[in-house]
Amino acid sequence: MIMADTNKAAVGEKLVEMRDICISFGGVHAVDHVSVDLHAGEVVGLLGHNGAGKSTLIKILSGAYQADSGDILIRGEKATITNPRDARRYKIETIYQTLALADNLDAASNLFLGRELVTSFGLVDDDAMEAETRKIMSKLNPNFKKFNEPVSALSGGQRQSVAIARAVYFDAQILIMDEPTAALGPHETQMVAELIEQLKAQGIGIFLISHDIHDVMKLCDRASVMKNGQLVGTVDVDDVTDDDLLGMIILGKKPGGANA
Ligand SMILES: Nc1ncnc2c1ncn2[C@@H]1O[C@H](COP(=O)(O)OP(=O)(O)OP(=O)(O)O)[C@@H](O)[C@H]1O
Ligand SMILES: [Mg+2]
Repeated sequence: MIMADTNKAAVGEKLVEMRDICISFGGVHAVDHVSVDLHAGEVVGLLGHNGAGKSTLIKILSGAYQADSGDILIRGEKATITNPRDARRYKIETIYQTLALADNLDAASNLFLGRELVTSFGLVDDDAMEAETRKIMSKLNPNFKKFNEPVSALSGGQRQSVAIARAVYFDAQILIMDEPTAALGPHETQMVAELIEQLKAQGIGIFLISHDIHDVMKLCDRASVMKNGQLVGTVDVDDVTDDDLLGMIILGKKPGGANA
């Protein structure tokens, strides 16, 4: 465990339950009575075509949008998440596809962006931030060496590891990743896969939005498929084939025999 594990979740504990969530924009039911959940140490894939409602659902959890109706339970208790700060208080961190890194700053400055460490004189403590960054990277990604270069000089996978380090450093227990491997080559995708395995082993629960069925089959324990704002179903990935998932995405049809 990288951070103090004072209230680390037990593997299998239900971290998130989104119940009967609805949100409309004008006449569009972007999310229409959707229920999903997430356990500690689990990766749940969110699949569906463009416009299915995946990002909107997850933005309700991260506090970017507020649902018109429905409930969010965190560790079994009803949660009020009206903005991203609320979400952070529930230890929910989001890694958006754009990663939201400041290109001209180095890894440490990005890790602590907006939450800088300061000396007793109130000055930004670059040395302490670099030391902390080296410490966390030595565990997350030991091959990472570019501590003193702007993150614009990093590869996609290295940038992804900086974004993940930031979430983990601030003790995320519920991690939302929107298309983490979309722009990566095979080697870098493998690196992110290893990072995800590590986070799982620490008991972190991850919602992973992806268009890539192979990634979902490889990285996820369960997959929830959405279509036109509605939930087609949730399946254990071990119980389904790639074609089953495709059928759910394209036809909105659950495979016979798979559990709900
Ligand atoms: N702020 C908004 N205002 C109006 N409509 C919106 C807004 N956000 C999302 N929508 C609509 O809600 C629906 C779901 O969009 P969403 O972005 O959640 O889909 P998605 O599954 O994430 O798609 P993609 O795979 O393209 O990212 C779409 O019809 C979209 O146009
Ligand atoms: Mg989206």
